[in-house]
Amino acid sequence: MSTLLNGKIILVTGASRGIGAAAAQLFAAEGATVVLTARNEDNLKRITAEIGDAASYLVADLAEVSEIDRVVASVVERHGRLDGAFNNAAAGEPPANVGETPEAVFDHVTGLNFKAVYFAVAAQVRAMQATGGGAIVNCSSIGSLVANPFLPAYGAAKRAVNSLTASAAVEYAAEGIRVNAVAPGMVLTEMVADWDKATPGIIDGYAATNPMGRPARPEEIAEAAAWLLSDRSSYVTGVVLPVTGGSAI
Ligand SMILES: NC(=O)c1ccc[n+]([C@@H]2O[C@H](COP(=O)([O-])OP(=O)(O)OC[C@H]3O[C@@H](n4cnc5c(N)ncnc54)[C@H](OP(=O)(O)O)[C@@H]3O)[C@@H](O)[C@H]2O)c1
Repeated sequence: MSTLLNGKIILVTGASRGIGAAAAQLFAAEGATVVLTARNEDNLKRITAEIGDAASYLVADLAEVSEIDRVVASVVERHGRLDGAFNNAAAGEPPANVGETPEAVFDHVTGLNFKAVYFAVAAQVRAMQATGGGAIVNCSSIGSLVANPFLPAYGAAKRAVNSLTASAAVEYAAEGIRVNAVAPGMVLTEMVADWDKATPGIIDGYAATNPMGRPARPEEIAEAAAWLLSDRSSYVTGVVLPVTGGSAI
């Protein structure tokens, strides 16, 4: 019986599908009690039922800072503390160059993919300070580390998440709070299916250049996040860990 996350109370955002759903399932299998959040209640209900007693959910639109605060407070109310958080919820961006990005798309993508993560980390740190520490993993993207000509607002928001991760890691290390990020390459989820619909062949093109010859499965990103949330990574903080099958993009 694996005990990577035994006894930990972990919040997973964007847990209604894709990487977040896989993460919630894995963390529970590794001994954690998980709280899933996203907007789609039907999906959250189904996934928590599949996980069983170790899971519960909260419906929230994380684009609202007040909702982020409510979610973190509800986890503490429900379980007495927060040991870990996987800030995974994000929105994709319809492919467009910088000069073509509508302001509404920019606001939506940066609002959810950066501002919401910023205030989630803030609320989570406050909760963890009250109980002596914890671990936070933000979901970045390999696209944050390179030029991102077709998804520029998305790439900029993810690079901002990396900066937040580094700053919070240094700021709270002495209080026993570690803050890291995972930076996936392409992962087969709805987000990428939508991108492939807008830009046909993007998945095959990625597979053709990836050293492992394929995109990731959501569980493979979840595994990296699980380790970073566990005590087995106790001296690791402030890193942005590429999970890309060896690809630099
Ligand atoms: N797939 C990839 O190739 C890839 C590559 C690099 C990084 N990533 C990152 O990995 C993470 C997960 O991506 P994914 O591919 O699993 O995406 P996905 O399938 O599109 O899932 C996104 C999740 O975020 C939730 N979400 C979206 N808007 C929300 C909102 N306003 N409030 C609360 N929850 C919201 C969605 O649930 P609801 O719709 O139910 O709210 C869903 O659970 C993201 O941070 C993404 O940027 C993905």
